[in-house]
Amino acid sequence: MNEPQKLIVNGGRRLEGELRVHGAKNSALPLLSAAVLAHGETVLHNCPALTDVDAACRILTHIGCKCRRSGDTVTVDATNVFGGEIPDSLMREMRSSIVFLGAMLGRAGRCRLSFPGGCELGARPIDLHLSALRQMGADITEQHGYLDCDVGKGLRGTKIVLSFPSVGATENILLAAVTAKGETEIHNAAREPEIVDLADYLTKCGAKIRGAGESVIAVDGVERLEPCEHSVIPDRIAAGTYLCAAAITSGELILTNCCPEHMNGFLQVLETMGTKIYTYGGGKMYISVKKRYTAPPTIRTMPYPGFPTDIQAPFTALCATAEGTSVFVETIFENRFRHVPELVRLGASIKTEGRVCVVQGVKQLSGAKVCAAELRGGAALVTAALAAEGTSEIGGLQYIDRGYENLEGALRSVGADIKRI
Ligand code: UD1
Repeated sequence: MNEPQKLIVNGGRRLEGELRVHGAKNSALPLLSAAVLAHGETVLHNCPALTDVDAACRILTHIGCKCRRSGDTVTVDATNVFGGEIPDSLMREMRSSIVFLGAMLGRAGRCRLSFPGGCELGARPIDLHLSALRQMGADITEQHGYLDCDVGKGLRGTKIVLSFPSVGATENILLAAVTAKGETEIHNAAREPEIVDLADYLTKCGAKIRGAGESVIAVDGVERLEPCEHSVIPDRIAAGTYLCAAAITSGELILTNCCPEHMNGFLQVLETMGTKIYTYGGGKMYISVKKRYTAPPTIRTMPYPGFPTDIQAPFTALCATAEGTSVFVETIFENRFRHVPELVRLGASIKTEGRVCVVQGVKQLSGAKVCAAELRGGAALVTAALAAEGTSEIGGLQYIDRGYENLEGALRSVGADIKRI
């Protein structure tokens, strides 16, 4: 039997140099699902090589599309799509596979998929997705852990008011609405840049969408979408993680292929901590940290444009060595401090109470054997290990590989002593 892979990090090396940020996982996944709606061959550039993206391609292949990758370009030929079943084994590989639902209903009119139960972040209900699709005319039955969905004579546009600006629900509604009959209005829609990217792709394919990136999105249904070529936006969470890695090692990094305007809330917090950040046109940004940074004001994770929940974990790692005490309030997910006990093994002083976490900055972390329990928590452990004295061993790489393209290679290229064994 193969031993699980691990990262071995010898901490204390200052990061210095230039890093290219890969395409956004959270954009690539809905875009791959959207390709189902386009009758022909979609070409997606800047598509990151991640295990979640591979899983999405396996789903596409299963439902009849042809997928191939060449470098960072993924081509999806959706000339044929079967309205079939997405088996449990594929659904379980990636919770966000639920975003295939809206696209499958729009293209094939029916779909059977297993209910995406809880995940590493706690219960992740899909009631908002299902209620919206039902309001649009889908008949959905939930039985034996499966969802059977059928749109009968077709989906109809309607006014949908979300009780929370769910990213996945907004995406599913958009995907269902673009070829529904009549107008759909989504109120309290998610405003994340990934929503705008999805709307941009769909618009290039012929969809009629107004207001993406704002709280109210209006969609006029069209008959049919034609494929197009599109480039996935840069991954703001990977970029944020690299900034945390630079800061915790008192480093100096230039990030290229990034989009600083998608990161305003987060960059402002970094600046209040005493780090120097410069942003340039052309998707470039620079960070330099020369002295020990101070703890930030209380951080509440919020829907965009607030502080992203996905950067909370790497940021907790960063605050572990800040001067002073940092307080985090996680408002989006119920179970998003699973990295904390592992950070404590690395010498951090952190206490959690429900959705609040208090980080008392220490001068020095120390290397330890730790294990990731989820994607961003894994990135937090790597961030901490880069600054820890001595050697750390990090397991649970299957989570990290879901969202970071060759994380160790990227960090090594800017001076980290890190290898995968
Ligand atoms: C997406 C991102 C994820 C990010 C999250 C919040 C992808 C693939 N994933 O996840 O990285 O952390 O946005 O920015 O893009 N909720 C319900 N009912 C629903 C839907 C959601 O109660 O039907 C709740 C969830 O349990 C959670 C909150 O709403 O507490 C946010 O979820 P949502 O915005 O839907 O996140 P995802 O789309 O799953």
